[in-house]
This record gives sequence, structure tokens and C-alpha cells, in this order.
Amino acid sequence: MSAHYKDLAVAALQAKRRAFAPYSGFHVGAALLTTTGRIYTGCNIEISTYALTLCAERTAIFKAISEGERRFRAIAVVSDDPSYTPPCGACRQVLLDLAGNIDFIMVNGKQRLKVVKLRSLLPHAFGRKNLQRTRPRIKKR
Ligand code: THU
Repeated sequence: MSAHYKDLAVAALQAKRRAFAPYSGFHVGAALLTTTGRIYTGCNIEISTYALTLCAERTAIFKAISEGERRFRAIAVVSDDPSYTPPCGACRQVLLDLAGNIDFIMVNGKQRLKVVKLRSLLPHAFGRKNLQRTRPRIKKR
């Protein structure tokens, strides 16, 4: 296991301490690694109208994209669940769109890492390629 990924897991654990989850009580931390070795962290941020909640993974990638980052290697995710925490469907789509087929690293309560390719978590994904086959048409009135 790459030492890099252990460091990333530690960064995710630290980010989890900043989770804002007053409704679920489920605290999540994420750490996203760029190809140049920078790390962007994120935590989940819950909103009283629950659907507006942001997962830790999306917080991390939105932070990175908004700072100008475009190339990524891996993301580590950890919660207080002793088992591994898989990403929700929305995060799978967002990460695949913005980061591509990176390594998704799940960290369990014993700080063991399970690494899977992001694309394997979202088979037959919709993406940019689908949009390129059509052109938006402006309707004439
Ligand atoms: N959550 C994440 O932040 N990442 C995941 O991978 C799974 C779920 C958050 C969303 C919500 O704040 C809480 O965990 C319970 O679903």
C-alpha cells in the first residue's frame, strides 16, 4: 500500500472532526489527492432541508476545483462506522465527472484501507461523452 494513501487516510480522519452533521450524527471526512501531491479535505455539511446536504467527498472536490485543480489521483473517505463507507450515488457521478477514474479509498475503523477504481462503482455511467453526441437545439418560435 502506498505511503501516500496512508497519509491521505490520516487527512480524511482529521477532516472528519470538522463534520457538521447535527441531523444524522454521521460524521464523514474526505481527503482528495491531486496528481501534483496536494491534498484537499472535506467534511459533510448538513442542512435543515436535508436534500441540500453536501457529502464530504463533494465538499473536497468542489474546494479543489474552485482553487483551480483539474487533475486528481485518489480520494480517501472515513466515517465513525467501523466498516468501510462507500460513496453515495450523487458523489459517484460528481467524482467521476470532475476527477475521472481515480482510486477511491475506503478507510474502516481499524484504519485499514480498501482501494477500488471509481468507475467500478458506477458502471454504465452517464458522462460528457453522452452530451457530445448531440447538439443543443434552440427552438424557433
Ligand atoms: N455522507 C457523506 O458525507 N459521504 C458518504 O460517502 C456517505 C454519506 C454523509 C451525508 C449525510 O450528512 C450523512 O453522511 C448521512 O447520510
